[in-house]
Amino acid sequence: MQRAIEIAYVGIEVPDPATLTSFFGDVIGLVPGDPGGDGVVTWRNDDKAQRVIVQAGPRTDAAFVGFEALDDSVFDATVARLRSIGCEVIEGGDDELADRRVRRLARTASPFGVDVELVVGLEDAAAPFSSELVPGGFLTDGVGFGHAVFATVEYDATERFLVEGLGLNQSDWIELEIAEGVVLEVHFFHCNARHHTVAVAKAPFELPQTLHHIMFETNDRDDTGAAFDRVFATDLAVPNGLGRHDNDGMFSFYVESPEGFQVEVGHGARVITDDWDDNRCYDRISSWGHQPLHRG
Ligand SMILES: [Fe+2]
Repeated sequence: MQRAIEIAYVGIEVPDPATLTSFFGDVIGLVPGDPGGDGVVTWRNDDKAQRVIVQAGPRTDAAFVGFEALDDSVFDATVARLRSIGCEVIEGGDDELADRRVRRLARTASPFGVDVELVVGLEDAAAPFSSELVPGGFLTDGVGFGHAVFATVEYDATERFLVEGLGLNQSDWIELEIAEGVVLEVHFFHCNARHHTVAVAKAPFELPQTLHHIMFETNDRDDTGAAFDRVFATDLAVPNGLGRHDNDGMFSFYVESPEGFQVEVGHGARVITDDWDDNRCYDRISSWGHQPLHRG
C-alpha cells in the first residue's frame, strides 16, 4: 500500500496530566515515555519516543495531532499543499523540535479546532517497547500509532483540509438515524494500510470535546480481551462493550477516560489496498456488539 504520511502522535491538554496516568499506564497498557518540560507526561505504544503527549492547560481536549512524513520531499510537498488551500503554516523552532523529538516540524491550525503538526524524523525511544500488559504489542509498523476521531461543526472545511491539504483519502462513511430526524454521519479517511487514521463526525452543534476517541490496535486478539478485563475491573464507563465494526471490521471496545474522551482498543481491522474500491455508505456502526455496558 502506497503511503506518504502516518499519524505520529496526539497531544491532549487537561488541567492535570496526572489524572490520566493510571488510565493510560495500568488500564490501556501504554508505557511511559520521557517526561517533558512544564509537567508534560508522555506515553508510548511502540519503539517511538512518544505517541501520546499530555500537557497541562485549561482545555480538556485534543490540543494537537502530529503526522509524520516519510521523507523531506513528502514534508515539503505537504506543506506546499496546505499553503495552496489557504492554510497558514509555521515552521517549528528548536525548542519545539526538542519537545516533539523530531527533526522537522510545521504547524497549522485545522478547521476542526486542533492544531496539526507535520513532522519528519520522530525519534526512537532509548529502549525498545515492552508492555507487561500488552505482551504482543501494538500494530504501528507503517500505519502510525493508531487512529483519532473528531467531531466538528466545520465538516466541509475539515474534509477539504484532510483530503486536499494532508492528502488523505476517504475509505467509506456511515449515515445512521440515531433518533427521529437526527442523522449521525461519520467519514473515514486513510493515508496507509490502516482502514482509517482520521475519522470525522458531523456535529450538530459545538460539542464540549472535539476529540471523540483515540484507538490503539493490538497485534494479538487476546491483548484486546485482556484490556477489556482490566477496564471491567475499574469503575470507568464503557460506552461500547466488545463488538465488531461493520466498515473496518475491527473487534474492539470503547472506554471513557477520566477526562471524558474515549479510548478504543481493538484488533484485526481490514486493511486498505492500492486498488481500494469499497468507498461506500454504511447504515450501521457495528455488525454486532458495541452495546453500552451496564454493570450490575
Ligand atoms: Fe475508532
